[in-house]
Amino acid sequence: MTLDEKIGQMNLPVGADIVTGDIMNSDIGADIAAGRVGGVFNMKGCGKIREYQRIAVENSRLGIPLIFGMDVVHGYETVFPIPLALSCSWDMDAIEESARIAASEASAAGICWTFSPMVDISREPRWGRVAEGAGEDPRLGAEIARAMVRGYQGRNMEADDEIMACVKHFALYGAPEGGRDYNTVDMSRQRMFNEYFEPYKAAAEEGAGSFMTSFNVVDGIPASGNRWLFTDVLRDLWGFDGFVVTDYAAINEMMVHGLGGPDDVSKMAVDAGVDMDMAGGSYLATLKNLVASGKVSEEQIDTAVRRILEAKYRLGLFDNPYKYINPEREATQIYTQANREAARRIAAETFVLLKNNGNLLPLSADGKIALIGPLADAATHMQGMWSVAAVPGRNRSLRTAFAEAMADSSRLFYAKGANLYGDAEMEAGASMANCIRDPRPAGELVAEALAVAEKADVIVAALGEGAESSGESASRAFLQLPGNQMELLKALVATGKPVVLLNFSGRPTVMTYEAENVPAVMNVWYAGSEGADAIADVVFGKVSPSGKLTASMPRSVGQIPLYYNHLNTGRPRSDGPAVFEKYRSNYLDSPVTPLFPFGYGLSYTTFAYGPMKLSSAAMAPDGSVVVSVPVANNGSRAAAEVVQLYVRDLVASMSRPVKELKHFERVELQPGETKTVSFTITPADLSFYNSNLEFVLEPGEFDIMVGPSSAEVQTARLTVR
Ligand code: BGC
Repeated sequence: MTLDEKIGQMNLPVGADIVTGDIMNSDIGADIAAGRVGGVFNMKGCGKIREYQRIAVENSRLGIPLIFGMDVVHGYETVFPIPLALSCSWDMDAIEESARIAASEASAAGICWTFSPMVDISREPRWGRVAEGAGEDPRLGAEIARAMVRGYQGRNMEADDEIMACVKHFALYGAPEGGRDYNTVDMSRQRMFNEYFEPYKAAAEEGAGSFMTSFNVVDGIPASGNRWLFTDVLRDLWGFDGFVVTDYAAINEMMVHGLGGPDDVSKMAVDAGVDMDMAGGSYLATLKNLVASGKVSEEQIDTAVRRILEAKYRLGLFDNPYKYINPEREATQIYTQANREAARRIAAETFVLLKNNGNLLPLSADGKIALIGPLADAATHMQGMWSVAAVPGRNRSLRTAFAEAMADSSRLFYAKGANLYGDAEMEAGASMANCIRDPRPAGELVAEALAVAEKADVIVAALGEGAESSGESASRAFLQLPGNQMELLKALVATGKPVVLLNFSGRPTVMTYEAENVPAVMNVWYAGSEGADAIADVVFGKVSPSGKLTASMPRSVGQIPLYYNHLNTGRPRSDGPAVFEKYRSNYLDSPVTPLFPFGYGLSYTTFAYGPMKLSSAAMAPDGSVVVSVPVANNGSRAAAEVVQLYVRDLVASMSRPVKELKHFERVELQPGETKTVSFTITPADLSFYNSNLEFVLEPGEFDIMVGPSSAEVQTARLTVR
C-alpha cells in the first residue's frame, strides 16, 4: 500500500445520498476509486451500498472493500424502545434479542457495523443523551453492554447477519457539567474506574470490534486525542484489540477546544491510538505531511491501518465484499411479522408503573375512554430519537392502537388538548418535522379536551416531551411537562374523573405534581415502532407492567445530580420526616430523596419477599457466598419481578457508596407462585479500585441487601476474613 492508500483507509466520510447510477461520477465515488475512503456511514439500502462497494472493489487500485456503518441504535426498521427504556426491562435476554434482530435487519441491507451500544453512564437527566444509555448504574450498564455486543456480533461476526459493534462514547460523555451536551467533564480517576468505566470494560471483554471516542475532555484533554484513555486504559489495561473511530468530526473539534491547528490535533489523535477519522477529513488533509516531516511515523499509520483491515477481515469482507449486500434478504427479512411481535413484546416490558391508586390500571376495554394529549395521536413520535432507518409514517399512533384494543371505537374519544410546546419555534426545533401543530389558542384546546373528557368514564392523558427532545443536542434546563401540558393536566384532574397519565420521555422528568395529584402514572418512554400497541397491551391488562427505573427520578432540577449509589457524607441527614436538619447534608427547601428511586416500579400484582439467607455469614477473600430469597406473587395476575442485590463495604481505605447494585434477576411468577432467587457473591462483587487504582478486596464487614428497589431492602451482614 502507498502512504496515500493507507491514509485513505483511515477516512470515514458520511455516505452521500445520491441516486445509485450517479455515485460513480460523484466526489465520493471519485474518492473511493482513488483509494481515499475506508468506509462510509448512514447509507440506507442495498442498491446504493452495492454501488459504493463495487467502485471500491473494481475501480480502486487495491480493491479493498469498504466497511458500511450506521447508527442502528435501537433497531433498524423494526424499532425497539429507546435504550434507556430497554434498560428498565432489566431483561438481558430481551435486550440481546433486540440487538440480534437489529443486526439481522441492518445486515440484510448492507450494513456491517453499528454505532452502538452507547454505554455512557449518566446521572444527568438534563442531558438529552441519557435516552441512549442504560441509566445510572455501572453494573447494570455492564451487563447490558455485554448483551448488546453479543446480540450484534453473534458468534464473532461469522454469519452474514452478524455485524460489528462500536462501543461509544469513550469516555465519560454522560457526565457533562450542567447537563449541557458536549460540555466539560471533570472527575477523579478513582471515580472513573469505580463508577463510569465498568460498561466500557465489559464491552471490550465481550469482544466488541470497535470503540468510538467522545466529544468531551477527559482530564482536560479531548477524548479523541487522549492517549491515556485509548492506549493506556483501553488497549494496555483492558486488552482491547479492535479499532477506534472518532465521533463526528471530533478531531477537527479539538482545534475549537484550543489544542492547536489541523496538524497538531491530527497528530494528537494518531498518538492517542485513534485509527479512523469520522466525517472530519482531518487525517486525509494532514497525515501525509505529518509523516513527511517526521512528526508522525509510518509505523503509527501502519498500526492504525492494520487494525482497520483486520476488522474488515473479521467481518469476512475480503472473502466476499458483498457478504452483507443481499437484496433477497433485504426484501424478506426486514420489518417482518416475527420481528415486530418481538418488538411489541419487549416494549411492554419497559414501561414503569410509578403510581396506581386503587388499581385504576389496567383499564377495561369495554369502558368509555377519553384519550387526550399531544402524544395521543402522534405516530411519528412513538419510535423515539435515533431511528435512522425507520420508515416514516408506517407505525401506529396510540389512538389507533387503543381503538383496535377496544374493538368499538365509538367509546374512544380524542382531543389533542395542547401542543407539545407553547412556543411554535421551540416545537419545530424539538420535535419531528411532521408533527402537526394546532394553531388554536391554548385555552381553546383545553376547553375542547374538557368537553371530550365529559363523555368518558376515565381519562388517559398522553403527555410528555417530543421524541426529539431527548438524544443528541437536546439538553433541557427544566424537566417538568413542557408548554401548556401542565395546565391541561391540572384541568383534566379537576374534572374529578379518574386520570391515567402516560408520560412520554427520553429521560427522568420531574413529576412532583403528578405524583401527588394524578391517580395512575406510567412512564412509557419512546417504545419503538410497535410501541403504541405495546402500551395498549399494558393499559388494558393483557400484560402486567414490569419495568423498573434505571435512573433516579428527581423532585426538582436542583437535586441533580441525584443517584442512589452515592457516598455518605460525614453529616448525613436522618431517615426521619422530611424537615430540614441544621448542619446536616440536606436542603432547606426539598427532601434529599428522589421522587421515585432507582430500581423502583409497580406491577398489577403484588410480590412478597420472604427472609433472605446467606449460605454463610463469613467468606474467605477468595471464597463465595450464596444469597437466597423467596419471592411470592400474592396477587391475582401473572407478572415479572426484578429482584435486586446491593452491597455496602462498611469500612475501607476510602469512602465507599451506601449501596451498589451487584446482582439482579427478573423472575416470572404466576399468581400464588413462589420462587427462590439465588445470587452468588464473589470477591469481585466486594472489590473496588483503591486510590492507586488497584482493584482490591479489603477484608471486613459488608452489608448485603436484597429487595424490589434500591429504597426497599432487607439487610444481612457478611464478614470477609
Ligand atoms: C454522535 C454519535 C453518532 C455519530 C454518527 C455523532 O454526532 O455523537 O453517537 O454515532 O454522530 O452519526
